[in-house]
Amino acid sequence: MTDALGAVAGAAGPPVRAADGLRLGWVRRLWPVLRPHRRSVVLSFGIALVALAIQVAVPTLVGTTIDRAVSTDESPLAPFLVALTVLALARGVLVVVYRYGLYRMAYRIEVDLRTMLFRHLSGMPFSFFDRVQTGQLLSRAQSDVRAVQLYLAVAPLIATSVVSFAVALVVMLATNVGLTIAAVVALPGVYVVGVVLRNRLFPLSWIIQGRQAEVATVVEESVAGVRVVQSFAAEGARMDAMALAARRLRWANVEQGLVRARWSPLLENLPRVGSMLVLAYGGWLVIDGRLDVGSIIAFNAYIVLLQVPFRFLGFFLILGQRARASAERILEVLDETPELTDPEHPVDLPAPEGRLELRDVWFGYGDGPDVLRGVDLVVEPGETVAVVGATGSGKSTLARLLCRFYDPRRGTVLLDGVDERDLALGAVRGAVVVVPDEPFLFSVPLRDNLAYGRTDVDDEELRAIAEAVDAHSFIEDLDAGYDTVVGERGYTLSGGQRQRVALGRALVVDPAVLVLDDATSAIDVQVEARIHGALRERRAGRTTVLIAHRLSTITLADRVVLLDDGRVVAEGTHAELLARVPRYGEILASGVGAA
Ligand SMILES: Nc1ncnc2c1ncn2[C@@H]1O[C@H](COP(=O)(O)OP(=O)(O)OP(=O)(O)O)[C@@H](O)[C@H]1O
Ligand SMILES: [Mg+2]
Repeated sequence: MTDALGAVAGAAGPPVRAADGLRLGWVRRLWPVLRPHRRSVVLSFGIALVALAIQVAVPTLVGTTIDRAVSTDESPLAPFLVALTVLALARGVLVVVYRYGLYRMAYRIEVDLRTMLFRHLSGMPFSFFDRVQTGQLLSRAQSDVRAVQLYLAVAPLIATSVVSFAVALVVMLATNVGLTIAAVVALPGVYVVGVVLRNRLFPLSWIIQGRQAEVATVVEESVAGVRVVQSFAAEGARMDAMALAARRLRWANVEQGLVRARWSPLLENLPRVGSMLVLAYGGWLVIDGRLDVGSIIAFNAYIVLLQVPFRFLGFFLILGQRARASAERILEVLDETPELTDPEHPVDLPAPEGRLELRDVWFGYGDGPDVLRGVDLVVEPGETVAVVGATGSGKSTLARLLCRFYDPRRGTVLLDGVDERDLALGAVRGAVVVVPDEPFLFSVPLRDNLAYGRTDVDDEELRAIAEAVDAHSFIEDLDAGYDTVVGERGYTLSGGQRQRVALGRALVVDPAVLVLDDATSAIDVQVEARIHGALRERRAGRTTVLIAHRLSTITLADRVVLLDDGRVVAEGTHAELLARVPRYGEILASGVGAA
């Protein structure tokens, strides 16, 4: 629960370094993503400026029209009305075009960013995923990308409104300075209220987002864990948790409503103070004969135009800070270079034999203590070796080094006599496949789960493989057979069934070395022996490393290696070790199922 909530907090926390002003360095860093879109930005901006020119011209034109209408000479009005209509239509069309252009660009950039991030993440080594929280990654892929996208879409709109402000101001000053002052006098107030409103709403929107996630987590866990909940009769506690989460969300929502209710009317009515002043002072000027009626009308229209940048500048600044913080977090991920990289000139290993060797291998996770402390081990091609050790002794760790999920701190892991760091990663992963005890299956049909490593297998071969791992019969019994979707929101397989699918998935690749990390722990002893027989049949000379707790599994091996305290302490056949090494007997005795 804390993990899930931790992930939520990661997604909803305030930007880490939002406080140190607006700096545009990140825009430059993102330039490779923005570059392909620069043409549409310039084009949209140009169109926006034309639309803006029309927008500024219209109030003046309206004013002139009204002056014509109220004046005594009988000059025709029709041309003015036609002009106004045409301008209005033109502006409407232009606005649609440039907004569409901007949003399209922003969403395209979003796609590019997300793809880039995902491609980068897919290539990151295990050590990276050990270190970061999934929630953090999700947040970077979701809200951070969104924040950057929003800013990129909104920034040009705000920029045009600033330009429109400047142009309108010049036009107004040219008409009447006093009236201009009357019109703009309330605008700083609009800015201040706008900033206050955003400052109060923004933290609340973070809180709301986080609390919505809390509610979702409670619901999700209650549904996913319903069997646990019901078997411990804990429905009441779950209800309480739900009620609490709902109340917390309610508070935040009500608070947001309150802030809106308090400040929005002020924000909406402040510009009207300007209108009032324009009407009062302008009316007086008109009565005095120093101004046309049309100017008053035009000024009133300009006030609306003028307030836009004031209203949104505060919002824009916050958005900019968020976008920058988000961009920096995205860049932080992109700046992580994969620790495991292909060598510049990888050694070619066209047909790996499957000889494994570990020479004085030391390894620990991150900055943690050494887990493996000088492991020396040779597994000849075609050999089946069982690795036995107490829980936590580093057996799975050893398996992960064999297929180069990690590099050792010291020493070398060799495949067919070649340091694995001198081989292409893809070559290592194609030659050494590790099957874990709790395999992850994707929410796709069983056929696709099986064919995950090589999509070009035909149905016949797939069936043969499924038979080899004793999965064919249970798959046939499913309603949709090989088309059954498994995993979340799909058909639930038993632990043993999942393990069989995972074994099949590994066999499809037909690796030279198969490392089974407790991969048959949930499969019946007899079936396990049968599967091993079939595995051997499918590829003579395959090297197999069995990590096992069960005696039945261990006896399938030609040789047993005893791992203790991060080193190989004994090697030999099961019978030899049993006779010679007391520690071996102890570990077997404490092992889970000495079946
Ligand atoms: N990703 C990881 N990050 C940090 N430490 C880890 C990680 N995986 C394992 N460890 C630590 O490394 C040590 C060895 O773990 P490992 O999983 O290799 O043991 P094991 O022999 O496979 O145990 P078991 O028989 O229970 O599967 C343990 O102390 C464990 O806490
Ligand atoms: Mg393990």
